[in-house]
Amino acid sequence: MKSDLPHPVHARAAVRALGASKIRELFNAGIGRKDVLPFWVGEPDEPTPDFIRRAGIASIEAGEVFYSSNYGIAELREALAAYTARLHRPTSPAEIAVTSAGVNALMLVSQLLLDPGDRVVEVVPLWPNLQEIPRILGATVATVALEFSPGGWKLDLERLLAELKPGTKALYLNSPNNPTGWTISREQQSAILEHCRRHGIWIFADDAYERLYYEGDHVAPSFLDLADPGERVISTNTFSKSWLMTGWRLGWAVVPAALEADLGKLIEYNTSCAPVFVQRAGVAAVTQGEPVIAHTLERFRKARDFLVRELKATPGVDIALPSGTMYAFFRVRGVSDSLAFCKKLVADYGLGLAPGSAFGPQGEGYVRWCFAAGEDKLAEGVVRLRRALKG
Ligand SMILES: Cc1ncc(COP(=O)(O)O)c(C=O)c1O
Repeated sequence: MKSDLPHPVHARAAVRALGASKIRELFNAGIGRKDVLPFWVGEPDEPTPDFIRRAGIASIEAGEVFYSSNYGIAELREALAAYTARLHRPTSPAEIAVTSAGVNALMLVSQLLLDPGDRVVEVVPLWPNLQEIPRILGATVATVALEFSPGGWKLDLERLLAELKPGTKALYLNSPNNPTGWTISREQQSAILEHCRRHGIWIFADDAYERLYYEGDHVAPSFLDLADPGERVISTNTFSKSWLMTGWRLGWAVVPAALEADLGKLIEYNTSCAPVFVQRAGVAAVTQGEPVIAHTLERFRKARDFLVRELKATPGVDIALPSGTMYAFFRVRGVSDSLAFCKKLVADYGLGLAPGSAFGPQGEGYVRWCFAAGEDKLAEGVVRLRRALKG
């Protein structure tokens, strides 16, 4: 191969500077190994329920294999508006945009509002995609770290408000939070909203796990409950977790209606629309899927309680009970390179966990365990972890 080309072939600097996903790296290292217990990827362990799959199949059979409106089919926008109204506040279909997964919703709303050089603030540790999306667009990311204690993860509100200086473009906040399971309180939301209103700062709320919330009425507090429809608040969401639909790649955003026309242009130039048959499956999920959510929540609560109890009883492990999500994020005493630790767990013990450093430097020393699994598998995982910690 020629190495002296006058014009080297490489991506632009902002893309080259992105971190590759460490979870993927680990996952790739374990590919093909049947003996690995896979708790590394954030995915429910059950397939999409039958009635949802059948809605997708019926749509394909009916020949719905063409482009649709940029914003999604009317039935799905209406169903999502009614769903948002039921959970949060009156919402019109004109505030809903259907997207090709939650991650696409986040990219779209970021493209909508971020200019190169803009400053965004994020509460970390945090799912890597949310940290890298603003950087792809040339924005800078300032972070505020949650504080760990065995009693629970805590947000220092004063520190966050101090970081949300005038001139900041947006706060990206994921609650319930991947990876810690921390969930913001209503009081903290009110204070943040007040502050952001005063300074014109956008709030991007990633509500992917709002239905995997183990307290109160099982719908996590959302900024949508507090903000008026025309305000600088955007909520993004996904079908992946609530309705066990990771592979379908379907999500949505709730945005002020005044943004829809510009958002529509971006959808056109990104994906043009989500596949209609996938949207039909989405209609079935939103309109008939409450029992699915109740069933999943009950299973995951049992799994969470079991795993956290076992981990608390494991010497060298510090953990707080997560109030939401499907993750246990725990500190392993003596571990300062969580990627190397997780690689060793895979290679020598057949245990697949995600390294805390994948969620930013603030996650170093920690490990994430997705507990969307049966108790027998979790128990075997604990045995393997204990064996590893004994060395
Ligand atoms: C915090 C968070 N937001 C959004 C998503 C998006 O999910 P998807 O792209 O599958 O819709 C995920 C997926 O893991 C997530 O963890």
